[in-house]
Amino acid sequence: SELANDVWFPRKKRDLDTFAEKVLEMGEDLPSDHPGALDPEYRKRRYDITQFAKQYKSGQKLPHIEYTQSEKDTWKVIYNALKEAYKGRACAEHLHILPLLEKNCGYSPDNIPQIEDISNFLKDCTGFTLRPVMGLLTSRDFLNAFAFRVFHSTQYIRHHSKPFYTPEPDVCHELLGHAPLLADPDFAEFCHEIGLASLGASDEDINKLATIFWFTVEFGLCKEKDGSIRAYGAGVLSSKGELEYALSGEPELKPLSLTDTPCQSYPITKYQPVYFVAESFKSATNLVRQFAATIDRKFDVRYNPYTETIEVLDN
Ligand code: TRP
Ligand code: FE
Repeated sequence: SELANDVWFPRKKRDLDTFAEKVLEMGEDLPSDHPGALDPEYRKRRYDITQFAKQYKSGQKLPHIEYTQSEKDTWKVIYNALKEAYKGRACAEHLHILPLLEKNCGYSPDNIPQIEDISNFLKDCTGFTLRPVMGLLTSRDFLNAFAFRVFHSTQYIRHHSKPFYTPEPDVCHELLGHAPLLADPDFAEFCHEIGLASLGASDEDINKLATIFWFTVEFGLCKEKDGSIRAYGAGVLSSKGELEYALSGEPELKPLSLTDTPCQSYPITKYQPVYFVAESFKSATNLVRQFAATIDRKFDVRYNPYTETIEVLDN
């Protein structure tokens, strides 16, 4: 098991700058089966937007993207379809916060909001801030950033040919799926708890945390006060196709649990065959705390929000 000095992990917010160039795939280039792979104009645009993320340094103003009319058209199709699909399907917190984003951050069918405005809003709600990213980070890097209440957000939009499901995160996924929940204090605490648990964890524990993250933050369903099942996972809330499918009775639904969830396998570029249902964000946070207690790590960590650093308590 690890002592704090034997493993590298980010100790201050600025350390997150070292993640920028380590994207898994679909960073500056696209794989051949991507919906935009054969569209040179799309690829050029993706490349240009990801360069802002590559160059971004902690503390700078977030990149302002001047979206084209064609990108705005794609956004509008998705925005209108999702808003309709959210009725009776999105969790109460999401339904509560989306109108606040419309009022405060420029969310509308005709405008793709800027992450600078959303980041400022989230900061006031829960202390979360956004930073731009080229594409998928490793699980370790992505989760480590949560320890600082930092969320990595892409800024490019999916290809117009497939508006209702895309095989990777895009600005619709981040802004319509993730951003609303990051404004909820209980949900923010849940994410923060995963982040703290991930600092200096073994590869095996990171995989399990990433799986918990997958079945909660990305693809989580939850029980509402009235007993109905709704979606809070961003991957579900950003895909009209998957949102309808997830609550259709077709996939298997299991209760979120410490025994089953961390070991469940999952596909990353198609609809999920299995979803887990959480009782509440508070109970999910307790589950992460229980999991964290099993992690083989010879030190404790806590976040100091005044200095924006991780404090290490060697045991
Ligand atoms: N399917 C999601 C959407 O249409 C995007 C997505 C695909 C995704 N794979 C993912 C999001 C993995 C998060 C993680 O919006
Ligand atoms: Fe996501």
